[in-house]
Formats: sequence, structure tokens, C-alpha cells
Amino acid sequence: MTSKVWKRFVTGGGTKRLIGHQHRLLSSFKSDELRVEPAGPHELQSKPPVSDLGFGKHFTDHMLRIKWSQSKGWEAPVICKLQSMDMHPAAKVLHYAQELFEGMKAYRGVDNEIRMFRPMHNMARMLISARRSCLPEFDPKELVQCIRRLIQIDQEWVPHSASSSLYIRPTMIGVEPTLGVAPATEAELFVILSPVGPYFASGVKPVNLLADPNFVRAWPGGSGYSKMGSNYAPTLYISKIAAQHNCHQALWLYGPDEEITEVGAMNIFALFQKEGRLELVTPTLDSGLILPGVTRRSVLELAREWQDCEVSERKLTMKEILKGAEDGSLVEMFGTGTAAIVSPVGNIMYDGVMKPLPVPDEDKSFAQKVMKTLSGIYYGEVKHAWGVPIEDWSICKEEEKRIEDYKKSLEARML
Ligand code: COI
Repeated sequence: MTSKVWKRFVTGGGTKRLIGHQHRLLSSFKSDELRVEPAGPHELQSKPPVSDLGFGKHFTDHMLRIKWSQSKGWEAPVICKLQSMDMHPAAKVLHYAQELFEGMKAYRGVDNEIRMFRPMHNMARMLISARRSCLPEFDPKELVQCIRRLIQIDQEWVPHSASSSLYIRPTMIGVEPTLGVAPATEAELFVILSPVGPYFASGVKPVNLLADPNFVRAWPGGSGYSKMGSNYAPTLYISKIAAQHNCHQALWLYGPDEEITEVGAMNIFALFQKEGRLELVTPTLDSGLILPGVTRRSVLELAREWQDCEVSERKLTMKEILKGAEDGSLVEMFGTGTAAIVSPVGNIMYDGVMKPLPVPDEDKSFAQKVMKTLSGIYYGEVKHAWGVPIEDWSICKEEEKRIEDYKKSLEARML
């Protein structure tokens, strides 16, 4: 890495683009060209009971498929029955992991209305992942309309339960069947839907984390800020090592200061009480090491609105956490993500020793307050700009502005 590029990463400053990139926005597919090829009545599957849902094990009857090629651009979107996909064994995704994905959810509200949670945030992040993966760009408003239609068609799959939801998995892959290491000239975007229960089989219980500075998830100049499968596969081996230490996941550290970056596949938060002052801390996005989580952003926005603590996006080190756990200034630590929403941290295995962290009682916990507030929004107990009904689709001005701010924060990560 040139020193200039390094400097930009380290300082997070500067607006000059140092490395050019070609936007592969060859127009977009259009939702009004969407074709629906419904599954036949004998092809519809029975729905599992809510108690058997788990995470990502069951899929709805239909999926969305949209093909792209350099020569023809985007083809018309198609909703068809859930099906296996034919792929040439030389497809680039199978060799060089040219793939990106998103994770978002739809919820059945107490009023029976189905709402998506902040869908345009995920669409904005998907575009950045497309750019970083050299996959074709598209109009995010067109994609969200296609997804909305897919959910409408499979709406009976949105669980009738306030502990479950419909997980939406938009994905894009490079399918050109050639082995040269180069951007694919053929790609496919698809979306599948999965009714899900809680992410962790044990429910919202504190997790144990392995913090070992030898394992690094992301680094300056890398792709840690974008949501691509190639960021996740290398973590599986570390999860196995974590399990050998009686830990559920890795606490990702980076650099000589052992900066805490993420936890498992989630963002991380710590709440401190120092000199009578509460401070909520999460690592800043500036380093490019952190995935700009939509739940992360929502927690920051809620905390700023509540005004009961100072909210900091700043460097958080292992030393600060260990000291806080020892002197009592650490109040709690928790992960956030679309799948698990919040996940309290119970213990950290560091330097061969399992260190206990404080876990406040439910009625005193900031993480639980977040969970309760978000659940109220997800399930429509509170009418909120973040819950967008799939029938009566509208995104208010204030939320549009927040989407724009989020987009800017994503674009700032691209070199
Ligand atoms: C999330 O919770 O946001 C995730 O990305 C988890 C997913 C990889 C299962």
C-alpha cells in the first residue's frame, strides 16, 4: 500500500479519490418489468411451526432472480419458485468468491401489517458492496420494489409471532465461466426469504468471546466495511478455535493497540460509567475495518435521541475493556446485528484467562432497552419511520435524510 493510501485510511480524512474505480452502472433493471412465474399449487411447501424455525434453515416458496451481462446489461427481474441454480463449474464466484450479500428483515406487526426495517439502508450498503466487488450496480429503489413484491407473494411465510421474523437475503454473484482473475462479465442478483426465530439457539444469553490478537478479521485497505462472503469464510476456522476455548465467537482485535473492531459477525458496543458520566462507545467507521451495520446505526441514533449518555464513535481497546471490567467503570458490552439484534457479552477469554464482564439485570441493561425499543418498532407497537409497511409504502423526509447521511458515510469508505 502506498503511504498516501495508508495515510488516508489512518486519518480517515481527505476527499480526493486515490484509486479510480469504474462504476458498473449500465442502467438498472426496472421493477415495473418484473415477471411473476408462480409456483404451482403442488409445489408449495408446508410452513414449519415457529418453534422449529431456528435461523436460515427454511425458505419460502419463491425467489427473485435478475441476470446481468456486460453485453446486454440487466434483464427483466423474475419472481419464480425457489429453485436450485445451474452454474458452470468455472463460474467466478466458485473460484474467486466474487459475491456480496445483504441481511434484512420483515416483521408481522401486532396489527397484522408486514413492515420492513430501514430497507433503503441495506440497499445503499449493497451498492457499495457491489462497487467493491466489481459487480454491476443498479437502482436500489428498483430492487426494493422487487423485494417488496416477493414478500407480498410469500406473505403467509412471515411468522405470526413476536419472537420471529422473515430474514431477507439479497445476494449477487459473478457467474462468468472463465478462470481469469478479473471482474465477471456475467452476474446474477437473487433474493431468497427465510422465516427465522432467534439467531442463537440459547436466546438472548450472554456470550463468551475469544480475544486473540493473532486473528484479524479486517485491515486498512481491505474490504472489511463491505458485506461480501469472502469476509466471512476465513472467520469459520477462528470460530472453531473459539469453541475449543468454550467461547461462542471471536472478539476481533486489530493492531498494536489491540483495537476492538467487531464481534463474530456483529458490531460491538461498550457502555462505561466514568466520574458519574455514562459513555456509549462503538468503534468508528473511519478505519474501513468495520461493517456499517444498520442495527449499529439505529442504536447510535436511538442513544443520541435518548440523551441519557454521551455517544462516541471512537477507538476502543482491549486495555480499556479489561481496565473497565476490573475497576467497575465498564457497565456492559454487547454486539449488534440484523440476525441477533443485540447480544450481551458475558466473558472474554484473553491471554489464556476467562475474564468476566458485568451483565446488568434486564431492567437496568442498556442493551435490553435497545432490544425492547427496536422490538416495539419491528412489531408495529410503535409507529415509527424505520418500519416501512410493505402495502402502504412510504419513507418520510427525515428518514430520507438519514439514508443520504448513511450513504455518504459508506461512500467515504471507498478509496
Ligand atoms: C447480521 O447479523 O447482520 C449478520 O450479518 C449475520 C449474518 C452473517 C448471519
